[in-house]
Amino acid sequence: KNISIVGVPMDLGADRRGVDMGPSAIRYAGVVARLEMMGMHIEDKGDIHVNRPHRYTETENHKYLDEVVEANTKLANVVSDIMQEGRFPLVLGGDHSIALGTIGGVAKNVNDLGVIWFDAHGDLNTGETSPSGNIHGMPLAASLGYGHERLVGIAGFSPKIKPENVVIIGARSLDEGERELIKRLGIKVFTMHEIDKLGMARVMDEAISHVSKHTKGVHLSLDLDGLDPHDAPGVGTPVIGGISYREGHLAMEMLAEANILCSAEFVEVNPILDQQNMTARVAVALMSSAFGDKLL
Ligand code: ARG
Ligand code: MN
Ligand code: MN
Ligand code: MN
Repeated sequence: KNISIVGVPMDLGADRRGVDMGPSAIRYAGVVARLEMMGMHIEDKGDIHVNRPHRYTETENHKYLDEVVEANTKLANVVSDIMQEGRFPLVLGGDHSIALGTIGGVAKNVNDLGVIWFDAHGDLNTGETSPSGNIHGMPLAASLGYGHERLVGIAGFSPKIKPENVVIIGARSLDEGERELIKRLGIKVFTMHEIDKLGMARVMDEAISHVSKHTKGVHLSLDLDGLDPHDAPGVGTPVIGGISYREGHLAMEMLAEANILCSAEFVEVNPILDQQNMTARVAVALMSSAFGDKLL
């Protein structure tokens, strides 16, 4: 596989500073060497430039809307160029608001894109429903066409994905407005309840068949806070009771076996809140499984 890495040192979509160091932390954890060792051809395109605002701004319950829109617009272009070259975009976050740019760039090139949203959260808020005004809680809604017109309009078209082609895995913290949107749109969600009850293997079987039924490629959007904070402590919005390291690997291995991914992003790594860069190292380990690393 030919993989192009792009970092997005963005933390303006989140309340706690520090996820802007995620791309450095993941590179420091050895992502390039690890994937090259598996025989992948890696091109590291470096980081998208993210404007540092001089002061705090808020637009209709969206913190730093201008900067988030600007960086995502650039990201969408870079990701689209990577797809045009026939390469696999691997985006390193940054807070989860960057999914808007990634999905914009991918969906421009893959019609009927499937999305696997691996997360403790739904990220299905709009400016009206968000309890925080943090845009990293809104990217899935905006990709589906719900929310502020400037977010929805990133990459120049909307909706970028259809609700029936989305599956959320690992959810355990949903706001009221997010629950309503999930019900209204009929989005398939595997909460921790389903993972506990059915086991990760069955959940992934069902998730993979759901998300690949009517699609020509699947994007993996993996928020490290989907994992349990014990295994991935370096995240800005940890929620107890998450996916274990082993379940996470199984999920990635089953994705590699299904061979459905066309793009991926690993987001919300915050090395400031971490111990020994553990979360970035977990991210790199999960990437290697997602690209087909096997013991035997
Ligand atoms: N639902 C909460 C909010 O809207 C938390 C979102 C957390 N999102 C994330 N990508 N970590 O503020
Ligand atoms: Mn932050
Ligand atoms: Mn998220
Ligand atoms: Mn999250």
